[in-house]
Amino acid sequence: MPSTPSNTIKSNQTQELFPEPTPEIKAHSDRLKHLIQDKIRANGHKITFADYMNLALYAPGLGYYSAGLKKFGKQGDFITAPEVSPLFSQCLAIQCQHILEQTEQDVLLEVGAGSGIMAVELILELERQSSLPKHYLILELSADLRERQQQIIKSRLPHLFERFQWLDRLPEKPFKGIVIANELLDAMPVHLIKLEKNSISERYVSLNENEEFIWQDSKPENPHLQKAAEEIQALQQSLAHLNDKPGHSYITEVNLQAVDWLKSIADILESGAILLVDYGYTAQEYYHPQRSMGTLMCHYQHHRHDDPFYLPGLQDITAHIDFSRIARAASDTGLNVYGFTTQAHFLMAGGLMELTQDLNPDDVMHFTEVARQIKMLTLPEEMGELFKVILLAKDKALSLPAFQFQNFKNRL
Ligand SMILES: C[S@@+](CC[C@H](N)C(=O)[O-])C[C@H]1O[C@@H](n2cnc3c(N)ncnc32)[C@H](O)[C@@H]1O
Repeated sequence: MPSTPSNTIKSNQTQELFPEPTPEIKAHSDRLKHLIQDKIRANGHKITFADYMNLALYAPGLGYYSAGLKKFGKQGDFITAPEVSPLFSQCLAIQCQHILEQTEQDVLLEVGAGSGIMAVELILELERQSSLPKHYLILELSADLRERQQQIIKSRLPHLFERFQWLDRLPEKPFKGIVIANELLDAMPVHLIKLEKNSISERYVSLNENEEFIWQDSKPENPHLQKAAEEIQALQQSLAHLNDKPGHSYITEVNLQAVDWLKSIADILESGAILLVDYGYTAQEYYHPQRSMGTLMCHYQHHRHDDPFYLPGLQDITAHIDFSRIARAASDTGLNVYGFTTQAHFLMAGGLMELTQDLNPDDVMHFTEVARQIKMLTLPEEMGELFKVILLAKDKALSLPAFQFQNFKNRL
């Protein structure tokens, strides 16, 4: 998520407004472009947008997350909460400590650990609270990021390194512990659908006569997508947002992978909890008429724009999370939803102020910097309201201080 650029730039403006990549970096993007073009040709001249996004982000050695470019922080393309401030991970650690106590578990599994900074700050806080987990497992799709995570953890936490273990896939045996992820679900490839009064189509990616990427709309081939699209269309119509004007359409995303991922976790989670932080809405908000072009968003050097075909491999592509769908998938697989709240409420009730109690106001530089970080994490116009936290668990009823201030789970 970017550090709040003021405006979204429209696709036809991207080429003019953005800094030109160096020839070497442009060549990298061209290699990925050629790979995607080959896939499109080999697949009857179209691929789903989810396949396009998967290649653009994760094609081995070339995709945005798989290749070696700097992504997070000021020199990257966007900034995430653990990169904004260690306070975020420290608050998360305090909640993990409560879960570990209530579930009598001592294993943490972080999925999609990015630069590794959240793991560092989180385990340091658990060490300070004398609640070190026996193991801190990391499941990371990108080989490049996995290497960076190992480097930062080795250099910042040599005495704790042996507790860390990197996994290639979800554990096969029943898992007992906590699963945590920040901004994982929004980085999963989504399908795009186009809803009209009496029709549903999927947006595929094809090529024009100049070999440029173009949209091609036709019937969804995946029955799960068709079903999800029908549900969304029904919700849309019940909200009376699809009007009768000819040509009126509503484009949105469907994140089938997030649902499948959650099901796989639910299958192996014998006891423990899942704590997910991401940006998104309940279904009622997600499918609001004002979002008739969906929530698909690209981040390129702290510019936010809506053109996923721009420089593949050099920009992030992401979509917001429909948390009602996540909650429904959780219930379908035997998980209970114990908490759903905004990031601001989660942090404020979860120990943010206590963590800053000992700050020295006379150290003006540090004090101002921490105040800036807190504003960024909690203000509604920054990350405070758009980002949500959801707590899921099996069997054991859980209650966390971070959800006691405001728990919006009934809105899901
Ligand atoms: C937007 S980044 C967030 C990184 C980090 N959690 C943070 O908050 O800074 C998404 C991360 O999820 C990883 N990722 C995406 N899909 C994944 C999957 N299915 N399994 C494991 N990691 C995944 C990406 O490689 C990347 O590290």
